[in-house]
Amino acid sequence: MSPLRVGLAGLGVVGGGVVRALAERERLQGRAGRAVVLTAVTARDRNKARDLDLGNARWESDPVALAKAPDIDVFVELIGGSDGVAKDAVEAALAAKKPVVTANKALLAKHGAHLARLAESNGVQLAYEAAVAGGIPIVKGLREGLAANGVRELHGILNGTCNYILTAMRESGRDFADILAEAQALGYAEADPSFDIDGIDTAHKLAVLTAAAFGTEVGFDHVHVEGIRHIAAIDIEYAQELGFRIKLLGIARLTDHGIEQRVHPCMVPITAPIAAAEGVFNAVVVDGDFVDKVLFVGRGAGAGPTASAVVADLVDVARGRVTPTFGVPAEQLKKLTPASIARR
Ligand code: HSE
Repeated sequence: MSPLRVGLAGLGVVGGGVVRALAERERLQGRAGRAVVLTAVTARDRNKARDLDLGNARWESDPVALAKAPDIDVFVELIGGSDGVAKDAVEAALAAKKPVVTANKALLAKHGAHLARLAESNGVQLAYEAAVAGGIPIVKGLREGLAANGVRELHGILNGTCNYILTAMRESGRDFADILAEAQALGYAEADPSFDIDGIDTAHKLAVLTAAAFGTEVGFDHVHVEGIRHIAAIDIEYAQELGFRIKLLGIARLTDHGIEQRVHPCMVPITAPIAAAEGVFNAVVVDGDFVDKVLFVGRGAGAGPTASAVVADLVDVARGRVTPTFGVPAEQLKKLTPASIARR
């Protein structure tokens, strides 16, 4: 069978992880049923020192040109940002009937329904396992493993940077800013870390998960958002004394008034399984009408875990799997009614 030729846009922390994961050629060949080959790459700064073996991949200067290049079969978007070149390139790839694999939660949170329609009308996959909860296969879990269920509620720790900060503050009493700098150095934080600490990144991910779980349009504007900036070491200490951990949670719940979506710090009992997810770990609890509660835990950020999710999507693409982006055809996605935000 002919190899799957990958065009990769973005060679930052995650892009580097993807290049390394693609080097496991034999493993991938077995799982994908064909070779998966890095064929072309693009990055903002081609001359930046990188400890990466790009093999025979050619350099392309323009992500949009790469997205529709005749010598690639799938476009991997790791540029980031909800608009601009990332959106242009993803649209170009889908319009050229090339599947897209993306880790871009901001893009999906803003344009998810539109991109789902574009992908589906062109008969190609828009895959985004890496966009939510890093290495946890939550999108596949919801869309495939839990397909029998009507989801009643989901909640989770969806931002590794915030969880890393809250954990380190509890363990060491260290300063918020110091710990944030550490999370940035480890490659966990967003380019603009206020997206992490103000809850916006969690809200992006929650909006995407809500669509996949409840079959609704992606409604970032419907999410109530509050971050962790105002949490002090003393809050964490008092919570601990009372038997709680403070976690930034994303919560989506089916109510009589529509789907409620909230992001804010929560007091979680130390005995709750989700409380054990510390540091960069994420955890998601899904409550389905047949399965009851299922807990997913794993690393939510960083090169290896995020690359693991990107490459899993590439294996699906190589196998020719085409699944509706949010579990049901884009034309059937339910509208989020204003009632769903009236209960903030
Ligand atoms: N900044 C994000 C986080 C990266 O800390 O979770 C992974 O999406």
